[in-house]
Amino acid sequence: MNLYGASGHAKVIISILELLEQKITNIFDDRAPFTLLGYPVKVFEKGDTDFFIISVGNNKKRKKLAKKLGAIHYTKAIHPSAIIDKRVIIDVGTVVMAGAIINVDTHIGKHSIINTAASIDHDCKIDDFAHISPNATLCGNVQVGEGSQIGAGAVVNPNITIGKWAIIGAGAVIINDVPDGVTVVGNPGRVL
Ligand SMILES: CC(C)(COP(=O)(O)OP(=O)(O)OC[C@H]1O[C@@H](n2cnc3c(N)ncnc32)[C@H](O)[C@@H]1OP(=O)(O)O)[C@@H](O)C(=O)NCCC(=O)NCCS
Repeated sequence: MNLYGASGHAKVIISILELLEQKITNIFDDRAPFTLLGYPVKVFEKGDTDFFIISVGNNKKRKKLAKKLGAIHYTKAIHPSAIIDKRVIIDVGTVVMAGAIINVDTHIGKHSIINTAASIDHDCKIDDFAHISPNATLCGNVQVGEGSQIGAGAVVNPNITIGKWAIIGAGAVIINDVPDGVTVVGNPGRVL
């Protein structure tokens, strides 16, 4: 398993991989050399690029890196304590942290982050490069566009559509659809 990105987010992924007893072959970061959790971190070199996860928390940077790395074989990291219905689809490059719950007929796109204890109910659709932060709650049939981040502890009501590259502030309560590219905070959510 190869990781690209060596910050706090990468530490959480390393801890999942260790729990799953998966060998961490390389950790790459443009700021290398240094060590992370005792693993050597080096500058990316082409070649050993199978089973890759882009372990960068920033959604835009993850997308940029995916474009730079091109067609390589991505994989996923899913914490064993996550509760995921058998009819959930999770695309490659995505990570699911401890205690997350993903309910029936939900689809999670590529290179996304379903963070610690996030709860995503039935029939949701999360597009690529999104981040559902710790303890956020998405009710049933919520759509989250590419690159959007749902902040820690935010609640999104049923049937809501969040546009692309939007940011929902920590603790917000979203009762109306959210357009592309805006930041929304508060209860009820208002555009900043
Ligand atoms: C919403 C957010 C992105 C705004 O950040 P920002 O653009 O730097 O905004 P500022 O801190 O300058 O705040 C702008 C205004 O919004 C308010 N605000 C910011 N975040 C807020 C929040 N979560 N809830 C309510 N109000 C908030 C500020 O009080 C300020 O109000 P004012 O203009 O009346 O003084 C950020 O505060 C946030 O909540 N990020 C999510 C963090 C998170 O969940 N991370 C998970 C990591 S795993």
